[in-house]
Amino acid sequence: MKKSLIIVALVLLNSILFAQNKEINPGAFWPDNNGDHIQAHGGGIIKIKNTYYWYGEERRNGLDTNYRYVSCYSSADLMNWKFMGDVVKMQDPENLGYRWILERPKVYYNKPTKKYVMYFHLDTRNYKYARVGIAISDKPDGDFKFVKSFRPLDHESRDIGQFVDDDGTAYLVFEDRALGFHIVKLADDYLSVSEEMSLVKAPLEGGAIVHFKGLYYAIGSALTGWNPNPNKYATSKSLKGPWTEFKDIAPPPTNTYGSQSTMLIKVTGTKSTTVIFMGDQWRPKTQWDSRYLWIPVEIGDGKLWLPEPKPFTINIKTGEYKYSK
Ligand code: DGJ
Repeated sequence: MKKSLIIVALVLLNSILFAQNKEINPGAFWPDNNGDHIQAHGGGIIKIKNTYYWYGEERRNGLDTNYRYVSCYSSADLMNWKFMGDVVKMQDPENLGYRWILERPKVYYNKPTKKYVMYFHLDTRNYKYARVGIAISDKPDGDFKFVKSFRPLDHESRDIGQFVDDDGTAYLVFEDRALGFHIVKLADDYLSVSEEMSLVKAPLEGGAIVHFKGLYYAIGSALTGWNPNPNKYATSKSLKGPWTEFKDIAPPPTNTYGSQSTMLIKVTGTKSTTVIFMGDQWRPKTQWDSRYLWIPVEIGDGKLWLPEPKPFTINIKTGEYKYSK
């Protein structure tokens, strides 16, 4: 009797200590390696060799409100994420005042300088400062040190998005209110921006881009604060445009299944290429419990569509995804 109890206890302990996520369940509580809900809101992902790094807004309950935090997670399979720590813990860097804002961090790896360069939206509580901030680190898991803030090519910049093309060229997408959103190329050291590719005349935030079979697909959400809305997409053969008109990416009444775009990840494998929509399901009153809506998109021939969210697995070797049920 005693022996069997010990065995049961050991089995339970094993499953707690080495719990593995077998799938991605869109909108569900998503445990990291410690069993805590992942805190990487408004995030972005880069792949370095065989490791994915996911950076985002750290909004854990009970954080010191004098600081803003950016978290980093690492993964070999996009399903199981190891918490690498808060790679930014920053005090108001420019006298921005009470409730200053650091949102939507995105990290690029600059090969020539071997630096990890983080861009983020830096703002005052009324969103009037409208700048990007830069912080750099020698390692992917920090610490990132604040360098400066600026307005890219002298434009107001709020939500930012990250896009690295297949040839390795790095771009920043940033939202400029009524004017629309800009797609700009980063300078060689990534510490500034060098060239405007497009000003897409659609007032969209949460901007994201993917390059799929010779076509660029840009997506974004309308400007409705934390509330979800029908996100849209347009395509172009070149980042310089011209862009098509914007169309819905999901049935409009679902408001993008209650989410807002933050990134499109392309997983290119030996058999297939899957593009995953990464969205945030914001819970403004309990931000630490905001959820992630990841959906493999139906994409090709100028069309992009988000099917109904369902649990799925992704095989990063073959590039294939599979619904669990
Ligand atoms: C929408 C943006 O996409 C978010 O990042 C955040 O800035 C909210 N607005 C604030 O209302």
